[in-house]
Amino acid sequence: MSYRLTVLGTGYLGTAQAACLASLGFQVLGVDTDPARVRALRDGIVPFHEPALEPLLRAGLAAGRLSFTTSYAEAAAFGDVHLVCVGTPQAAGSYRADLSYLDQCIGALAPLLSRPALVVGKCTVPVGTAARISRRLSVLAPRAELAWCPEFLREGHAVTDTLRPDRIVAGVQSDRAAAILRDIHAGPIAAGAAFLVTDLNTAELVKVAANAFLATKISFINAMAEVCEAAHGDVQLLAEALGHDPRIGPAGLRPGLGFGGGCLPKDIRAFMARAEELGVDQALSFLREVDAINMRRRARMVDLARELADGDLDGATVGVLGVAFKPDSDDVRDSPALDVARTIASLGARVTVYDPVAMPQARRVHPELGYAPSAVEAVRDADVVLLLTEWAEFRDANPELLGSVVARRNIVDGRNTLDPARWRAARWHYRALGRPLAADRDVEAVVALEPRGFRCARCSRRSDREVTSSRWWRWRPGCGNPVTRPACACHLTCMTGSRASASRSLPWASGSAGPAWWTGRPGSCGHRRSSCASW
Ligand code: UDX
Repeated sequence: MSYRLTVLGTGYLGTAQAACLASLGFQVLGVDTDPARVRALRDGIVPFHEPALEPLLRAGLAAGRLSFTTSYAEAAAFGDVHLVCVGTPQAAGSYRADLSYLDQCIGALAPLLSRPALVVGKCTVPVGTAARISRRLSVLAPRAELAWCPEFLREGHAVTDTLRPDRIVAGVQSDRAAAILRDIHAGPIAAGAAFLVTDLNTAELVKVAANAFLATKISFINAMAEVCEAAHGDVQLLAEALGHDPRIGPAGLRPGLGFGGGCLPKDIRAFMARAEELGVDQALSFLREVDAINMRRRARMVDLARELADGDLDGATVGVLGVAFKPDSDDVRDSPALDVARTIASLGARVTVYDPVAMPQARRVHPELGYAPSAVEAVRDADVVLLLTEWAEFRDANPELLGSVVARRNIVDGRNTLDPARWRAARWHYRALGRPLAADRDVEAVVALEPRGFRCARCSRRSDREVTSSRWWRWRPGCGNPVTRPACACHLTCMTGSRASASRSLPWASGSAGPAWWTGRPGSCGHRRSSCASW
């Protein structure tokens, strides 16, 4: 049977679903409450950056299989199956998921469903949400049934992930619902996708568990990067060696600035919040550490930038390459790159950024940063260059060309994407997360590249030689002054952006609530003492 489908919510997930299902031959109606977005989609314009999606959208429109509306009444009359693709962001001031868009969507659609229909949740929700919505549906729309079929697409790969998924998880309450979902996914199933039938709760859990696992894998390799930095190992080689073990595999083992975006960070937090409600918070307490490791990478990046700026970012010129949370996306939600850029600016540096596609989005949330039209302009006169999103354009950048416009050849490769030998050969002082400073034989050369030397962390006097290179600070030879500041990661960056408090022994200004991910008491570092080795 050929079903008529509606897709409710036209973000990354919904637009990809609508265009891909139309390309598979279904009649599809996309629904969104934002009239401007609906107009753009009707005109064949995808209002965000997603490779390969726009041609598919236009093909669907031209074939007459795809249309868009703001009307829920039209959707209810049109569809046999309604795919719910609205956002479930992190709630303000809490780890929980904000389900208000989902509830509004069901509240708008359900009373209009006068004929038999299958409502299919595609979005990521806390376990138990589907059962609650199913109960609501049975009151508002007795002829409709709920299923949950989570989507696993990655931004930047939305089309291929939707058309050729690894698996389809069908959380259902009846054989009829399972049969409908099997029909809708007949193409991908024929191409080899696994089709797994589960109950509603398990289907919801599969999605959050998958994201928790992916986040854990990324934080695992980033924890190894921390160890490598202390032990003078090379995390890039370590990751490669681990990835050859088929039980581990190479995917998701790229060390660097860590994960961000609209999914992994908020999904692991919502999972922890739900586990606490279910009384099994201990089972997921490791995710707190996964989150903490991830956020520490951002602080470490700021720290490396500070080191290369002679211990003080105030007044330094910093060029930033990349602000999207990952390449091939213009999404800056919880972007590690943008977070680092704005933190460094808040410490007094003049920060200029360039990103191939995400500049308008970044400018909307951080207008205080400088925006340049190219990589060369972003790094012009820079004391330090930071590569924060691994766009191919940056990977292939010419170190001589960029070197000819910077004030000093200092670069931190936040994504371990450049070839250190190539950049060092071009006389760049190259640093990366989890990589050695340089081969031993190159240390003299690295020091020689520092004509202005560095400022000793103990006595603040300048020196062009260092005796000890600690994890956080560099010392001037013979300096005997006592260490006055604790080397605790909490103190390295003021999380409120207040420069005044950055040098105080508080992680942020008194009275501030602190950032959303921080779970301790604001205004005091006491709660971190047990986990901070430096106290
Ligand atoms: C993720 C999941 O992969 C997807 O299945 C789910 O449906 C939504 O969340 P997405 O957020 O689009 O998708 O991106 P992903 O490619 O998983 O990357 C997430 C973040 O992790 C990015 O910031 C990326 O830079 C980072 N990452 C990824 C690493 O730091 N190292 C890696 O090895 C992989």
